[in-house]
Amino acid sequence: MAAGAGSALLRTKSLERLNADAEAGEHTLQRTLGPWSLIGLGIGAVIGAGLFSLTGIAAAQHAGPAVVISFAIAALGCCFAGMCYSELAGMIPVAGSAYTYAYATMGEFVAWIIGWDLVLEYAVGAATVSVSWSQYVVRFLHQLGIDLPARLVHSPFETYTLADGTTGTGLVNLPAIVIIVAASGLLMIGIRESARVNAIVVAIKLAVVAVVIGLGAFYVKAQNYVPFIPENTGTFGEYGWSGIMRAAGVVFFAYIGFDAVSTAAQEAKNPQRNMMIGILGSLAICTVIYILFAGVLTGLVHYDAMRGDGAPVNTAIGQTPFPWLKSLVTLGVIAGFSTVILVLLLGQSRVFFTMSQDRLLPGLFSRVHPTWKTPYRSNLFFMVFTGALGGFLPITQLGHMTSIGTLLAFVLVCLGVIILRRTHPDAPRAYRAPLVPLVPILGILTCAAMMVSLDSETWLRLVIWLAIGMAIYFGWSRRHSRVGRAQEA
Ligand code: ALA
Repeated sequence: MAAGAGSALLRTKSLERLNADAEAGEHTLQRTLGPWSLIGLGIGAVIGAGLFSLTGIAAAQHAGPAVVISFAIAALGCCFAGMCYSELAGMIPVAGSAYTYAYATMGEFVAWIIGWDLVLEYAVGAATVSVSWSQYVVRFLHQLGIDLPARLVHSPFETYTLADGTTGTGLVNLPAIVIIVAASGLLMIGIRESARVNAIVVAIKLAVVAVVIGLGAFYVKAQNYVPFIPENTGTFGEYGWSGIMRAAGVVFFAYIGFDAVSTAAQEAKNPQRNMMIGILGSLAICTVIYILFAGVLTGLVHYDAMRGDGAPVNTAIGQTPFPWLKSLVTLGVIAGFSTVILVLLLGQSRVFFTMSQDRLLPGLFSRVHPTWKTPYRSNLFFMVFTGALGGFLPITQLGHMTSIGTLLAFVLVCLGVIILRRTHPDAPRAYRAPLVPLVPILGILTCAAMMVSLDSETWLRLVIWLAIGMAIYFGWSRRHSRVGRAQEA
């Protein structure tokens, strides 16, 4: 081996090579997405389970009405990271996103780790949301008088109790599998088709959220905002400022997905400009919506009353004279969750597509369909993998893994900006993150603080996941690496 073990881990892929690989050969994706499609993909991935389910939980258990501050803090961390993503995605418009930026800056080993880590964000994230999607669909169908057999809507690890008192254990969460198969099928057929469907569904969910905010605002009661920052109970994370921070870590999940825009960099027209528009545009729109939504929700119901409430949004709607809003919200949730799943699966297939092109993963992930121009085998693989997670495992307990995995990626992307500014100060940058290194450092600190606020079990799971990744890297990827082989040659 020409390179020693240490240098093998640190070998990087040059910017020139990255950009040349992205444009060349049979494995090329199609550049069809304009700025609006990219913003649509961002919003599609972002607004979902986090907003509808976590806002109430974060207010009730951690922050009270000050959950709006938590949303602002999480947004700030995302904004710092988003600016760094925008700079790198414009400079290196390759589908691998954070994985690719790490390959260009921190070396192959860190790149592998981050690519592996992104499975937590994209595939595990999609599986988690598919289970929530299933719950809402079951509820919606029940309202229409259709009841699916309980065994077919619960995983084998879940027990259920029917209205007549019968209990049982689930067999498979079929609706979760159905939505994963549908989203994967659409992604296989084409990126343009996927972006079109995404745009329509995003319009529906935005309309629903706008109606809830617009109507709910008239029924907000000022006394529900008192105390705005409830006093800390003496336990870290239960109200007070530590509670606000803990809630920021929880609601961070709601912002996950804007970075998935960067995985579409290889399919974007004029990525140098449009990446920044897609990433920061979707983030800005979602931040405004989230703060308004959280403000209205905690203004409609006192945070104390939300404790133990499985459906705080419905309770909040109960405070308005518009009960029909509940059905509308269910529709918005189903629509919202569908696009989250779609775009997260898009991101996942593109990251593995790039890792496979670099031969850190087997070639099947980078095979592009001759007509559809999509990495259909990658989509197919993740359809099976994510479908199995959502259909057969109690995946909802793993939601925090998605957050910690994403935060780790954000930290490394911020670091990547600082490194590239030093190693390639003159490389063309259509968009430059402001105040470097301050902004990336603030991004690192905010994201690290949110990571620290997550529980120790989530950390343990992250370490185990990364250890599995390292075993694969040392067992297979390092020997097959294209960059490594080129160096040896
Ligand atoms: N941000 C996405 C959601 O809240 C993952 O569902």
